[in-house]
Amino acid sequence: MAGMYERICSEYEAFSPRSREAAVAARDVFPGGDTRSSAHFAPYPLFVERAAGACLYDADGHRLLDFMNNFTSLIHGHAQPDVVLAVKEQIARGSAYAAPTASQVLLAQHLRDRVPGVEQLRFCSSGSEATLMAIRCARAATGRQKIMKMEGGYHGSYEMAEVSLAPMAELAGDLAAPNPVPIDDSFPSSVLTDTVVCPYNEPELARQLIARHAQDLAAVIVEPALGSMGMVPATREFLATLREATLSRDILLIFDEVITLRLGDLGAQQLYGITPDLTAMGKVIGGGLPIGAIGGRKELMQRFHPDQPRPVMHASTFSGNPMSMAAGLAAMQRFTPQQRTHIDGLGERLRDGFNKVFRDAGIRGQAIGIGSLSNIHLTDEAIGNARVSLAASRRAGRVLRCIHLGMLMRGVVSAARLMYCASTAMNDADIAAAVAALRETLLDLRDDLRREKPELLY
Ligand SMILES: Cc1ncc(COP(=O)(O)O)c(C=O)c1O
Repeated sequence: MAGMYERICSEYEAFSPRSREAAVAARDVFPGGDTRSSAHFAPYPLFVERAAGACLYDADGHRLLDFMNNFTSLIHGHAQPDVVLAVKEQIARGSAYAAPTASQVLLAQHLRDRVPGVEQLRFCSSGSEATLMAIRCARAATGRQKIMKMEGGYHGSYEMAEVSLAPMAELAGDLAAPNPVPIDDSFPSSVLTDTVVCPYNEPELARQLIARHAQDLAAVIVEPALGSMGMVPATREFLATLREATLSRDILLIFDEVITLRLGDLGAQQLYGITPDLTAMGKVIGGGLPIGAIGGRKELMQRFHPDQPRPVMHASTFSGNPMSMAAGLAAMQRFTPQQRTHIDGLGERLRDGFNKVFRDAGIRGQAIGIGSLSNIHLTDEAIGNARVSLAASRRAGRVLRCIHLGMLMRGVVSAARLMYCASTAMNDADIAAAVAALRETLLDLRDDLRREKPELLY
């Protein structure tokens, strides 16, 4: 007898024949049929033809509510008219020049005025580049090599940014001094030597680790909410401890706000009232186009000053390109405190709705998160760090995939790890639709769960 996962997959294939066909062609040219690992899932992702507002339209003609928003980068949903107009006007005047533009200065001023820790900044093309340049700035400024990052923290597509991103329990080591664990077999050993891994939301352990490695540490980099581990918010005490322990030892504190800049006005640093030395930004500040930015205290950012004797080298063909500047400025100018309150409220009601559905269905699950950012976890334990989150998702195994596919078939798009992010294009009816879709999905899975995963039922 086919199991739950096989049943859901065959229903999904019947639901999306055109995407299935496109996926077969894609497998010919792309390893595994996909060119972006984070957007891939089995048996194949839905192929999208167009998007507008809160919705995606796929190759089979389905209208889908998009809670993915390109991994949180679309604060206003898709094809927001002001953004479209700004991009159209810009492309008619050229898409990229190796020269500064007034739009770079305008977007920079906008961000400087809104993000507390940013006195000066530089643009780049991605969040990965932003965290990398922040790390290089910290090394140049301190003359030290090592970087402390959080277990389960994700800072982009390069080795150090992915150390101990999702360590297997048997490799992770002691919570008080986690091992640096590579995510794949491509890591040079020097990266592991130069990375100190810290458990998230453990202020006392973090304080001890910082003290132990202080001589060698250039910076501590931290996300105010652990995105890849399922939107686990930092406690204020944890961030405050990192701030105090780094300040007292002349170690730089880098906030990776690539996801969390949509919180507060702007940034989790504003919300938590804790100012880092350097901030990595990305996603929402590009209005849907590729972008990144490194900002911080003026004296540190002067390390990039191109006319000084040994500036930190920062080039990159599309840094500050006028298309991203135009889209970013249009998007940020529309992102008012009222809009932020609106999407934070949607996020809160989504989590409340999901949590009620889990309770009503008698299934051990919960939605956690902060503001407009939410994530479902299949456990009723409190989730404060990467280990609890990883253990729960490994125990749940294919049940997470079944919920994801079940929601897609009911017209609701999330990340495969069940991350949901609200946009200003959404309203309470969209939240109600997502909550109803989860209710139906769980109802459909309940009998299978009773047979295959009874430990998930109360
Ligand atoms: C917290 C965080 N930092 C950095 C990055 C990397 O940004 P990008 O994908 O634009 O390179 C991401 C991407 O998801 C992220 O979530």
